Amino acid sequence: MKGIIPAAGLGTRLRPLTFTRPKPVLRVAGKPIIIHAIETLQAAGIDDIAIIVSDLTRTEIEYTLSAVSGVRIALIDQHQQLGLGHAVAMAREWAAGEDVCVYLGDNLFEFGIRSFAQQFERERPAALIALVEVADPSAFGVARLEGQRIVELIEKPKTLVSNLAVAGAYFFSSRIFEALDGLPPSARGEYEITDAIQRLITEGDTVLGRRVQGWWKDTGKPVDLLDANRLLLERIEAHVEGEVINSRISGRVQVPASTRIINSKIVGPVLLGEDVIIEDAYVGPFTSIGQGSVIRNAEIEHSVIESFVRIENVEIRLQDCLIGLRAIVRGGRRIPRTLKLTLSDASEVELT
Ligand code: G1P
Repeated sequence: MKGIIPAAGLGTRLRPLTFTRPKPVLRVAGKPIIIHAIETLQAAGIDDIAIIVSDLTRTEIEYTLSAVSGVRIALIDQHQQLGLGHAVAMAREWAAGEDVCVYLGDNLFEFGIRSFAQQFERERPAALIALVEVADPSAFGVARLEGQRIVELIEKPKTLVSNLAVAGAYFFSSRIFEALDGLPPSARGEYEITDAIQRLITEGDTVLGRRVQGWWKDTGKPVDLLDANRLLLERIEAHVEGEVINSRISGRVQVPASTRIINSKIVGPVLLGEDVIIEDAYVGPFTSIGQGSVIRNAEIEHSVIESFVRIENVEIRLQDCLIGLRAIVRGGRRIPRTLKLTLSDASEVELT
């Protein structure tokens, strides 16, 4: 089975973070989102992967992939963003008649997708779709199930059909490419993968639904990045190699050899990148801090800090922050409140 990761969109719902870089290369828990996706496919035994890119995402994704090994990756261009169905159709020649797993690169599954791949290979339906119960299904593709079979699939339904949403892992035989052929665009003007699957159902093919066990996260909005970071940090192990001077570290904290902690307190789970300096600071639970960043005379928790960020002399606690590459936050007198920031790359905030 081959893997397809659609990664041509910019992630407009994640603005301002995606003004300068596309969503797949944003980091959660120390890794670009697309690397989490590749590792999920790899763990399911899929190591031949096509990433569908656009002119806007290709360069950044190519750069991010330079660190990947152990998988064969092809980049396939989708010059116009005409929907998920259109993105998948771009990979038809590359798939060359084999089964494919389409994995939406912004989705995270607690237990990965291996059990789905195994069921697909055992039962050989035309399609097997990961489904998850959600409170508000109107933002998703939604499935109506009878037993294990999906009998109806609707994209972003206006009325309540079922509370089973389509999560971002689809397993297909080559029949999907036939169903995508000549498919009309939907009301929102996109070629929907959901419509192609509905077509398989209508034509009598077996389309199975399988519920996701454990948590599932679709990182569409900024708050989702914080959630995803928290869920992934829940699993890290303590590993302290760097220099720790006059500081207290508790809980599960990762400190690489090149990182220094001076006169500070760190309460895990916390993930620090290479060459980070934490000085006269507090770093609280569920925080990831990227390579080369400096946190000095400041307090931060439950946040995702990208690489080469400087946070200095900020006397109010920073909480629930997403801070982009090379951003600077410099402070300020004490205000008895917290500060919630979403800053894109190269932002500057002065609290004077
Ligand atoms: C896409 C699919 C939708 C699915 C969702 C899962 O929607 O079209 O069927 O439920 O991903 O993340 P989008 O996030 O592109 O609106």
